[in-house]
Amino acid sequence: MGEMPRSFEKELAYTPEIARETADLYKRVAHVMPEIEWAVHAPYIAAINKLKKEKNAVILAHNYMTPEIFHCVSDFRGDSLQLAREAAATDAKVIVQAGVHFMAETSKILSPDKTVLIPDTRAGCSLAASITGADVRLLKQKYPGLPVVTYVNTSADVKAESDVCCTSSNAVAVVEDIAREFGVDTVIMTPDEYLALNVAKQTKIKIIAWKGHCEVHERFTAQEIRDYREANPGVVVLAHPECPPEVVAEADFAGSTSAMIGYVGKHHPKRVVMVTECSMSDNVAAEHPEVEFIKPCNLCPHMKRITLPQLLHSLETMTYEVTVDPAIAERAKAAVERMLAVKMPVVAKAA
Ligand code: 13P
Ligand code: SF4
Repeated sequence: MGEMPRSFEKELAYTPEIARETADLYKRVAHVMPEIEWAVHAPYIAAINKLKKEKNAVILAHNYMTPEIFHCVSDFRGDSLQLAREAAATDAKVIVQAGVHFMAETSKILSPDKTVLIPDTRAGCSLAASITGADVRLLKQKYPGLPVVTYVNTSADVKAESDVCCTSSNAVAVVEDIAREFGVDTVIMTPDEYLALNVAKQTKIKIIAWKGHCEVHERFTAQEIRDYREANPGVVVLAHPECPPEVVAEADFAGSTSAMIGYVGKHHPKRVVMVTECSMSDNVAAEHPEVEFIKPCNLCPHMKRITLPQLLHSLETMTYEVTVDPAIAERAKAAVERMLAVKMPVVAKAA
């Protein structure tokens, strides 16, 4: 049997030296994390940050990571589109994806020469699991001549069969762009039915949707939103477009995870509810102590597979390496790069 990785052997100790070394990092999360909790995280944070340098690695963290990951060990953070852009641009030798598997695959597709690691291979996504490449081929047979727009929350196989990818922050622009290019008034959109319906409300292009759903966002209801408003007068409601359309209709603003963060930074609402995965509120609250966050807690079980011990283990053992068949990767890359050609804001670098 191989040697046990250090991080899984025993709990790491919170020494006075670690406390001093991580004191500035703690300030970033102090508003949402009691000191007693910091004592558990700090030794891992110190070890991860040291190992990252030794291995010439960067950690790309999605907005749904927990605050100790998001604010204290990530090099870049953002929504799916921002992380994809960063994966394409980084000079580091190793990318550790603090997010789910499709994000790591996208990084590998865009940076085939880099080592891409996912700390837990079980970090999947209900949307990615809802469709296969064979399903897309059948759709193309059924609707010949129509372009296929595929949400990045999919496997490389599905991306390879698609004409262009999109994320929640560029979906409308991508749909209109590809319809223009194909000279059609209808596109096929996979796999998120609700994102497709929400996009359809913002464009004249007709959309044929697949019936995949996000297991986190499909659980929100319009009644729940009305209840938040009644219980919290004046609350501003921000929703992710993976929510059902009747939920988005009740919101004051709908956008990608980063668009929601941007809304709080720009408007500083007194009270806000983010209708999305619950770590988002913690991450934004850490930076905006002046805003009161009402926190419905729908956790993404896949995102929550990524923890500090898993990240440290990943760096120590260089696991689990994400690979994509080069022939599939080449076709998937064309769809992702076509999406990246749509002009969008650049990624925010962690301070
Ligand atoms: P964003 O691109 O908005 O970050 O969404 C990714 C995701 O998985 C939301 O559930
Ligand atoms: Fe997939 Fe939903 Fe989790 Fe995002 S929140 S990774 S869409 S299951």
